[in-house]
Amino acid sequence: MELHEAMYSLRAMRRLKTDPVPEELIWKVLDAAIRAPSGGNRQPWNFIVVTDAEKKRKIGEWYLDGWQKMYGAAQGAMEAEGDQARVLRSADHLANHLAEAPVFIIPTVRASGVAAVSGMGSSIFPAVQNLMLAARAEGLGTTLTTLHKVHEAEVKELLGVPEGVETMCLIPMGWPKGKFGQGPRLPVEKVTYWDGWGETKAKG
Ligand SMILES: Cc1cc2nc3c(=O)[nH]c(=O)nc-3n(C[C@H](O)[C@H](O)[C@H](O)COP(=O)(O)O)c2cc1C
Repeated sequence: MELHEAMYSLRAMRRLKTDPVPEELIWKVLDAAIRAPSGGNRQPWNFIVVTDAEKKRKIGEWYLDGWQKMYGAAQGAMEAEGDQARVLRSADHLANHLAEAPVFIIPTVRASGVAAVSGMGSSIFPAVQNLMLAARAEGLGTTLTTLHKVHEAEVKELLGVPEGVETMCLIPMGWPKGKFGQGPRLPVEKVTYWDGWGETKAKG
């Protein structure tokens, strides 16, 4: 798939089939992930692939609890019209079905391998984006999620993640039920300033 087509049609695919993903494809998207840059090329990452049903079930429960704690109050907003309400409904669906995704990928960062100035996220999210684009190219749906962090300690214990290593996000991956497509975004000329804050420019 052409790179721009992948970038322009990469969406948070939260409704996934339970069909398994061939191991070969899991390796393929991970191999794309590790091509990403990291501070000083320290590659402070590890990726935990979770396919074990019981482990996914437990993490799914913690994730749902995180969702309810963080977004429980937004129930009313879900009924509304518009993009934001659609995101909430879709995120609510994922929170209630997370464990059904055939694969979880949990990228981690070793804090000791990261320069304080660049931060941990800077050394993992390029790899995460690579992974999601590579998955998109294979027709696999992914979503970058973070709500398992509400139960980070329990998730780490379950997976035996040592001290000094942080789980950065959780990516459920599987064959999507819906279609890929372009997500709603503000126009580029609205969010771009030229030579100074607030100085917009017509797109040439
Ligand atoms: C830092 C970050 C954290 C996110 N956390 C969650 C999450 O916990 N749960 C979830 O369902 N989606 C999560 N998302 C997905 C966003 O909601 C999604 O990327 C955004 O709505 C755009 O979706 P679209 O590309 O389909 O338009 C997260 C995205 C980012 C970048």
